[in-house]
Amino acid sequence: MGCECWNRQIQEDHRVLDSERKALKAVLEKPVGLKDLRVHLLQILRSLEPRMKLHLRREEEVLFPAFEHLLGGGSGVLTLLKDQHDELRALLDKLSELLWDRESSSWQNIAETGESLIALLETHEEKEGRFMVDILESSLQPQQLMDLARQFQRVASKLCQEEP
Ligand SMILES: [Fe+2]
Ligand SMILES: [Fe+2]
Repeated sequence: MGCECWNRQIQEDHRVLDSERKALKAVLEKPVGLKDLRVHLLQILRSLEPRMKLHLRREEEVLFPAFEHLLGGGSGVLTLLKDQHDELRALLDKLSELLWDRESSSWQNIAETGESLIALLETHEEKEGRFMVDILESSLQPQQLMDLARQFQRVASKLCQEEP
């Protein structure tokens, strides 16, 4: 059993993404035609987009390599998780584009894209918890887990430095 606190930051990322996913869902479930739905979605996206992109980078730069190292090579689960990250980014970008394109995007298109994003995020995080975080926790030494946690935190400051 690993150190209990090593994945606090990972859990915090997942908790925030989970509440934003629910906020997105709540807006999409409102009656079609209600005023300001696009504005509400844009407000949610303003926070969800940078948070999700940071979270994906943190996993790709820290957790995925650790998981790959542990498994000793290619893993079907890891390939699936990576593909889902690409798909999540594409859906986020598409949703954002549709919301800004007031002239030609339809609400139906927005709703479908938003629902696909919600569904994928749900299955992805569930799979990740079960197949990656739990396996890392039960297989690595407490010291190695704490090192992962430190690296996970560092990605945020690295990203800030990359900003133009
Ligand atoms: Fe992920
Ligand atoms: Fe995740």
